[in-house]
Formats: sequence, C-alpha cells, structure tokens
Amino acid sequence: MAKQAQDRVLSGMRPTGRLHLGHYHGVLTNWLKLQEEHDCYFFVADWHALTTHYEAPQTLAPNVWEMVIDWLAAGVDPEKATLFVQSAVPAHAELHLLLSMVTPLGWLERVPSFKDQQTKLNDKDLATYGFLGYPLLQSADILMYRAQHVPVGEDQVPHVELTREVARRFNHMFGKGKSVERQINDALTKMGKKAAKTYKRMRQDYIENGNEAGKAGALELLAAQQNITDIEKQLLQGHIEGKGRIILPEPAALLTKAAKMPGLDGQKMSKSYGNTIALRDEPARVEKALRSMPTDPARVRRDDPGDPEKCPVWDLHKVYTDSKTHEWVQQECPRAGIGCIDCKQPLIDKVLAEQAVIRERAEPYENNPALLKSVMAAGNAKAQQAANETLASVREAVGTVYVYN
Ligand code: TRP
Ligand code: SF4
Repeated sequence: MAKQAQDRVLSGMRPTGRLHLGHYHGVLTNWLKLQEEHDCYFFVADWHALTTHYEAPQTLAPNVWEMVIDWLAAGVDPEKATLFVQSAVPAHAELHLLLSMVTPLGWLERVPSFKDQQTKLNDKDLATYGFLGYPLLQSADILMYRAQHVPVGEDQVPHVELTREVARRFNHMFGKGKSVERQINDALTKMGKKAAKTYKRMRQDYIENGNEAGKAGALELLAAQQNITDIEKQLLQGHIEGKGRIILPEPAALLTKAAKMPGLDGQKMSKSYGNTIALRDEPARVEKALRSMPTDPARVRRDDPGDPEKCPVWDLHKVYTDSKTHEWVQQECPRAGIGCIDCKQPLIDKVLAEQAVIRERAEPYENNPALLKSVMAAGNAKAQQAANETLASVREAVGTVYVYN
C-alpha cells in the first residue's frame, strides 16, 4: 500500500535513556506496525524533558543518544519513518508561541497532568511557565506535522484533546479574511485556467443548487491536481463548503493498549522502581534476574501448588510464550508438576532470543557514532522541511509575513 501524505502519524518520547521491555512491548512494537502502514514521524521530545528536569541538563545528550539507539535496535526503520529530535526543529518553538496567543490559561490549568505531576514530583519546583505550557508544546509538536493519528498511552489522551481544541480555535480565528482569499486565488492560479474554471463552476453548482455531484466533482478534480501542495488542496476543499480554512487539521488519539509488563520485583516495570530489564541488557544478567524473580508467594517449596493468576511470571508468559506453553503452565503449576525454574525456562529462552536480535541491530550504531549522526541528520532535515511548510501557512494566517522577507 502506498503511504499517503495525508495519512500521517506523529508520536514523541521523552529522552529517558535506555528503554526497557515495558517500553518495547508497550510502545515500540506498536510503532513498528504503524511504520509499515503510515507516514510516521517519531521524535525525541528533549524540550519536554527540560520542562521537568531542567536541573539536569548534562543528562540530556546521553539519554537522547541511548534512546534513539534503542528505537533503531527495536526495528524502527529510518527508511520507513522519519526520526528526529525536537530541538533540531526550532519551528516547534515558534508554533508553540503563536498557539499560546490564543490559548486560554484555564485550558492549561485544567489539564490533569498539571496538578498530578506537581504533586507527584513535589521535590521539584514546577511552578514554572514552561511546565504549565508543556501540553501546548505537545500540541505544537502534533499540529506541526498535520498528523491525523497520535499513538499515545491513556495518560496522554487529554493532551491530544487539548490539541484538538486549540486547532479548532486557531482555525476559527485565523481561517478567514483577506489573506485566506488571497491564498485561495493563488492556488487557483497555480492550477491553471481550465481546471480553476471547472472547480469554480462545480463549487457554484453545489452552493447554489445543492448539487452533491458538484461537490464530488470538485473534490475529485482537486485530488488530481499536480501543481498545488497538500496544504492548498485542503484549503480549496474547505472552500467548497464555504468553510473557513483549515490551517491546522485536528488530530485524533490512537490509544495504545499496553501489555501488562511486570518488573523484576513483580510491580509494574518502571525505571523509578529500579525493576527493569533493559532492551540491551547483558544476557547473563537477564537470565539471572528472571531466575530470581518472585513467583506465587504460596509456592514456598517445590511441591507447594501454585496459581498462575497470583504470579508475575505468568504475566510475562502472556507476553512472550505461545498457547501450548500457557496450557502447560496452567496445568502443571496448580498441581506442582513443575517447579518455578522449569516454568521460567521457556520464558528466559524467548526473552533472550528477542534481545539477541535487538542487540545485533544496535551494534552498528553503538560502534559508530557517525552512522547514528547521519541517520538523525537526515530525519531532522526532513522534519524541518515538513515543519516549515506548516509554519509558512501559519505565519501567513497570523500576519507575520512582510514584503521585505
Ligand atoms: N508528552 C509525551 C510524554 O510525556 C511526549 C510527547 C511530546 C508526545 N510531544 C508529543 C507524544 C507529541 C505524542 C505526540 O510521553
Ligand atoms: Fe509462577 Fe510458573 Fe511458578 Fe506457577 S510455576 S508460580 S506460574 S513461576
């Protein structure tokens, strides 16, 4: 299937350094699927990290570096998806600023993460302008690429909702007026006399006579135009119905259902609990850690029966092993037919096999910083170009375009 420019996915991750299996099965495997089907933009949200971790600037560079290697190691493919770093595309800052002009304070104050995080991270001073504005920075990230889909976890859905409201308001305020009329006329001129005339006639037929065929014909005509950009096509699409111009299309959240990934102590796997298996961990460490992972507390001795539902190892089986193994565990654990070490073995094998591929993919990048640099430079350049296209129409809409530039 050919990927359409108007079928764009955007997602970002804060640079947290090396990723773990929770990230892999929660987020990255979803990215791998998406990159096959959509025009994907995946970026490192380094400015977002500064909104909460401004006191540790020295951690940014290694964290960005290691995380990008993990993306590539996981199979995110720079030939299929555009990978970039937020701060390499300063246009995000300009869009954030321009959106901030029309974003009511209350919209930001009521974003749930604002109060939550301030309470959770109470050892930090988060009474900052940057922290309040960070969901709007995320809106700029998304709207910049005119993304239709934004794969996120549940906690991020309110941010995508905010983004939709901001886009709607921005379009409403700036999608009309003289500059839009001029852009419509410019686009029509670019289409050529004949096509422009047909477009106008069909649009007229739709508006004056309510003839749906007129609308359909005009849309079809637009789709076939070679001389105008996607942005101009959207402009003329909206114009058919007399709607204001859609400068920034509204995105939709694509909720990622995360697999339940227990950490080595049985709690949810998370860096802050120190219970993770890193994507590129040493096999010997992984094996040892899994062997000592807690199981059903009722199984003190080998011949105590167990219950997989009370065992974090069973959650790992659900992610890693096949249905035959599942049946074996479900049958043998409750009657103490296997010991926990027996039960863990097929799991250990699967995790190690998965990681072997990942470590192998990481190797060329680990040993060759120039290679990683060139991958990122290409992605950054592509993102800059896409961002500048959007920014040009945003500048036009808000009036910051002058004859001398
Ligand atoms: N805020 C997201 C997080 O903390 C990261 C992020 C920044 C993001 N910009 C984005 C995610 C845009 C999706 C789209 O995880
Ligand atoms: Fe858990 Fe497996 Fe041991 Fe049962 S046999 S308690 S499922 S590790």
